[in-house]
Amino acid sequence: MVGKTFLRTAVPRIRMLFLFPDVNAMLLLRRCPSLTRLGRVGTQRYQAAPSFASRAARLCSSSSSREDQRSYQHASSGASWKHIVAGLLTGTGAVLTYGLHHQEAEQADAGVPAAEKSSRLPVFSNDEVTKHRSLEDGVWVTYKGGVYDVTEFVAMHPGGNKILLAAGGALEPFWALYAVHDQEHVLEILSQYKVGELSVEDRKKQEDAKVSDPFSSDPERHPVLRVNCKKPFNAEPPPEILTESYITPHVFFFKRNHLPVPQVDPASYRLKVEGLPGGALTLSLEDLKTRFPKHTITATMQCAGNRRSDMNKVKQVKGLNWGISAIGNAKWSGARLRDVLLALGYGPEAAQWARHVHFEGLDKDETGTAYGTSIPINKAVSEEGDVLLAYEMNGEDIPPDHGFPVRVVVPGVVGARNVKWLGRILVSAEESGSHWQQHDYKGFSPGTDWNKVDPKSAPAIQELPVQSAITAPADGAVIDRGDDTLTVKGYAWSGGGREVVRVDVSLDGGRTWQVARLRSGDDGQPDEPSPPPGRAWAWKLWELTAPLPPEAEELEIVCKAVDSSYNVQPDTVPPIWNLRGLLSNAWHRVKVRVAEE
Ligand code: MTE
Repeated sequence: MVGKTFLRTAVPRIRMLFLFPDVNAMLLLRRCPSLTRLGRVGTQRYQAAPSFASRAARLCSSSSSREDQRSYQHASSGASWKHIVAGLLTGTGAVLTYGLHHQEAEQADAGVPAAEKSSRLPVFSNDEVTKHRSLEDGVWVTYKGGVYDVTEFVAMHPGGNKILLAAGGALEPFWALYAVHDQEHVLEILSQYKVGELSVEDRKKQEDAKVSDPFSSDPERHPVLRVNCKKPFNAEPPPEILTESYITPHVFFFKRNHLPVPQVDPASYRLKVEGLPGGALTLSLEDLKTRFPKHTITATMQCAGNRRSDMNKVKQVKGLNWGISAIGNAKWSGARLRDVLLALGYGPEAAQWARHVHFEGLDKDETGTAYGTSIPINKAVSEEGDVLLAYEMNGEDIPPDHGFPVRVVVPGVVGARNVKWLGRILVSAEESGSHWQQHDYKGFSPGTDWNKVDPKSAPAIQELPVQSAITAPADGAVIDRGDDTLTVKGYAWSGGGREVVRVDVSLDGGRTWQVARLRSGDDGQPDEPSPPPGRAWAWKLWELTAPLPPEAEELEIVCKAVDSSYNVQPDTVPPIWNLRGLLSNAWHRVKVRVAEE
């Protein structure tokens, strides 16, 4: 199944990933030579600390990167405290470890052995640390034997309740929950607050007390997936596999988790439905399966961050570096949300005030906050909206990674609104107040940076724009000159039920174009029946076989799709670049070499 070209181009890249997992940490080392200086002043700060803002401004002061300085200015601004608080709890062990090593290395460079320098810091027992759990008594935390006084930081950021959860104890359990690898600045900020060392005895006790891994019961995953983040698990299939089948097998379907996969017992599972005249109601899985007609749709789901890596090539953005495969197409079966809401009392009266339907997952962070979002009520209750409370994916129980036992499938709408492990539905006059509705999954101008961004100024992403990408050949592939023809394959899809009506392919960087053949089924099999207008939820796979241009040594292959509203993809990334790297849908381009085999 996996072609020669795939092996030639993808395997070396996968190997690179395993060989150099800490490239980011190395980059940070180069960019922040001032880390150690800041680390050392920690002892003085214990007596009299300079203001947080001035320290933040000093961070990476010798860095040549303006981007870094901007992000630290941002870090010091009131608007960004949440990122930092989250960062302190969510930054990576890898970055912290790097920082501690780096600190030791610089101390050694200065001619003083690291151990001797560390010994100048006061030593604290765990009992002393645990006394510091409030703003009045000071907020202390420990990490890998270091003791940090973060009182000033918390005081400056009222509401930093997350870090207070770790107060008086170890940060490790929090890092275990959020092992996200994109929090470079976290260690730098933490290192400024170092006030001492934990006693050897207590450090040993901490090391012996194994931090339980909240991800230990996550399901097994297919080894071919390209992992963007292990914990929480985020991965996508190699592009060539994606277009092998019209329906994406669940093992190859991209996985986008913000937290550990919750363990749900289907027998005791209950879905709460609130906000309707009848008061709060609960439904069992059995209720969903037996009280409402089973409805099946084929729908494509795409993450808002799909193709973020194309934006990163223009200018660094924040987020997981998804390639082109954070998208998949599946058959989803379940009860219609509309049927459930109507049966539970949604009617003309509620229609007067209800504007949104909220969904909450059973995956919760350490504060008990569940993943949650909302969609407009019209989409939820419309007969044409086809929103499902799905309990099957591709004819089987929904697999754990994809929301077992029940997830919402909101066809035509960004993946983020398709809440997995659904625990609660709320009919409301307001949009969900959750982080993922109010602060993330929004689009901004290319001119908006982290200093200027105002999340309230942009609406939450719902329907996605038209998209297409080339899955074969892969970028960098070598095409045999002996082949007379070249076959290009890919996928195309548009949000809001708008059907893809055409895909144009160019072999010369966009100067000339040919129309690809579209299909809505497996190669050589009949297409799925055409959807009613406005309800085209599934992607089209496309293919073009064209003569190999004679004497060409390199080809720039480009694709672009057109949907039923004649929306087309923008030709380049810069005009749609945004700081979170969302909605990346410019023409997709791959370069291949033509050579004698
Ligand atoms: N639902 C819950 N409960 N928790 C999550 O982390 N991630 C969302 C959405 N629903 C998420 C969730 C995002 S951002 C996406 S893109 C899709 O699930 C991904 O669905 P998949 O993992 O089944 O591909």
